[in-house]
Amino acid sequence: MASTIADRTDLFRKKLLGKTGKISEKALEMHLGLYAIQVRRANELLPALQGKELPGDDRIAGSLFRANRLDFSYCLSSAKSHELYFATLGGAGGEPQGILRTWIDRDFGSLDRFLRDLRTTALASDSWAWTCLDHASGRLFNLLGDPRGAVPFWGGTPLLAIDMEDHAFLLDFNLDRAAYLDSLLGQIDWEVVASALPLL
Ligand SMILES: [Fe+2]
Repeated sequence: MASTIADRTDLFRKKLLGKTGKISEKALEMHLGLYAIQVRRANELLPALQGKELPGDDRIAGSLFRANRLDFSYCLSSAKSHELYFATLGGAGGEPQGILRTWIDRDFGSLDRFLRDLRTTALASDSWAWTCLDHASGRLFNLLGDPRGAVPFWGGTPLLAIDMEDHAFLLDFNLDRAAYLDSLLGQIDWEVVASALPLL
């Protein structure tokens, strides 16, 4: 039997409970629940997508295959962004060190400039903001993912994901997206971010 997509909810709960600052336990649990639903939906779609019957070329438009494939692509990409988001939360603050800090300084001029660039990118998004290492250029970029299904990770390594959808902040911050973002940026686990860098 082919393997299924792992649900890492328990791992993230264990890592994050009591460590997310102004992001409440209630909001964290709700968010973990949304992530778990996406993983479950992706797994539920697998049998239909791995079945032997594929629609003919003239029957793809509007087909159930297309709907399932689109839904699966969204669920999987969203689950992966959420996994990165949860993995890099709950840190003690501070500053990135080592090669990550060297590359931030190289590509943005300073840590402060990088954080302001990331913060502005996130505030401009209604869905995701990511910091990625682009393999072709070797540069770090802050990318904006909007609409919600966009995943610009090809040829690069995503290091950091910021969820700017309403469900991430409404419960604790109402419409104050900036306050949510500042709380988030104050608890980035930079060691986890650095661990995502490819081996040099
Ligand atoms: Fe989310």
